[in-house]
Amino acid sequence: MTDEQSDDKVADDKPADDNQTAANTLWGGRFAGGASDIMQQINASIYFDRRFYRQDIAGSRAHCSMLVAQGILTADDGHAILKGLDQIEAEIAAGRFEFDPVREDIHMHVEARLSELIGEAAGRLHTARSRNDQVATDFRLWLRDEIDALDPALRRLQVALLDRVEQHADTVMPGFTHLQAAQPVTFGHHLMAYVEMLSRDRGRFADCRRRLNESPLGAAALAGTSFPIDRVATASALGFDRPMANSMDAVSARDFAMEYLAAAAILSVHLSRLAEELVNWASAQFNFISLGDGFTTGSSIMPQKRNPDAAELVRAKAGRVIGDLTALLVVMKGLPMTYSKDMQEDKEPVFEVADTLALTVPAMTGMLGDLVVKKEVMEAAAGQGFATATDLADWLVRELGLPFRRAHHVTGSLVKLAEDKGVDLDGLTLADMQAVEGGITKAVFAVLGVRNSVASRLSLGGTAPAQVRAAAAKARGEL
Ligand code: ARG
Repeated sequence: MTDEQSDDKVADDKPADDNQTAANTLWGGRFAGGASDIMQQINASIYFDRRFYRQDIAGSRAHCSMLVAQGILTADDGHAILKGLDQIEAEIAAGRFEFDPVREDIHMHVEARLSELIGEAAGRLHTARSRNDQVATDFRLWLRDEIDALDPALRRLQVALLDRVEQHADTVMPGFTHLQAAQPVTFGHHLMAYVEMLSRDRGRFADCRRRLNESPLGAAALAGTSFPIDRVATASALGFDRPMANSMDAVSARDFAMEYLAAAAILSVHLSRLAEELVNWASAQFNFISLGDGFTTGSSIMPQKRNPDAAELVRAKAGRVIGDLTALLVVMKGLPMTYSKDMQEDKEPVFEVADTLALTVPAMTGMLGDLVVKKEVMEAAAGQGFATATDLADWLVRELGLPFRRAHHVTGSLVKLAEDKGVDLDGLTLADMQAVEGGITKAVFAVLGVRNSVASRLSLGGTAPAQVRAAAAKARGEL
């Protein structure tokens, strides 16, 4: 019998494993011949969905106990099934379980093994259930665990950033727009931007978790079942907030996986941007930081080199994560209600992304702990490139009452003059300045220093060390 027919007519109590190569016993009633080799290969998902074994067994336990409680299964059968499931879980955990592509997927592996262990009663477990609601349940349970494991890793990354923010709340560096030196900022302020991004990333995963935590189990193949099941009981046994409301939606929805991949893609873009900055800063041209031995490699030919490989790989892996999101969206976009076998292709992108994040997030945390900050180089660079020109224009507005547009123009002339003389703004003499704008006094030199510049930016969310410390303290509190 096929899954589509299985929900109400689970009369097939034959052991599920006999003579699999000839005709699959799950639907062997109608299929005399076996699948071709290539069909077995393209059809099998056991290569990857074996990762669901704990969730699959947990789902079967909940389903079995509910069937007993509802009088659909005898207590004896229920007991035998639960015992068998315990043994199967132990066998798989210990690596003593034989996987065989003929048995297609994790659901059929568990059922086939169960029938080897307990015989006929194994065939009763699939009453009022289909692999369609089973796989959707397994996937949600698995992804929920994955999100729960990711959150503390993201939190540790935020802590690693915050440690640096606090150390460098008043380390001055150039702030860039267009990768052109724009205005001096503090290194702490710069890193604090990433703490904020990661807070939103964690929020996106938390939203995804909240929405995915509904139980598809009991939707059966697509239409529900005529057996008197208790979906609230299975939902709560599995830690879901409630059963999904619509059986067709329950078996065909994959937006929970799309949301996870979308959140992961955005996170990966954030990590990639930070990785790019580390690569830049560690270059001889910037020389703002050096990366430790733990996350770099040497060159086999150029002895002077220290390559930021971990940062480069974090940057590159964002490409694959974005590709995985695209893959799932495209797999799903043309599918009519409800389940189609296309949906078996939903898992590998998610597995790849989960494995990727399990590397990129701690790699970034490690690099942040390891790197050495070259404060003097940063600060010297902050003073270059007329970075305090905006401070000069603001001073002309504040002290001389010039309209900002006029102050901008005057400052532009002073920058041109400094450029011609080959000096920075604070290398101009008072006489030079007064030749351009007669009202300028020597007090102007106070705002031309980068430390004064950053200290003056006290607006909410600004780069002044006092604001950076306040932002860091607030973030610590929230962590
Ligand atoms: N291995 C399948 C998957 O991952 C399980 C569901 C099979 N359902 C079916 N009607 N053939 O999607």
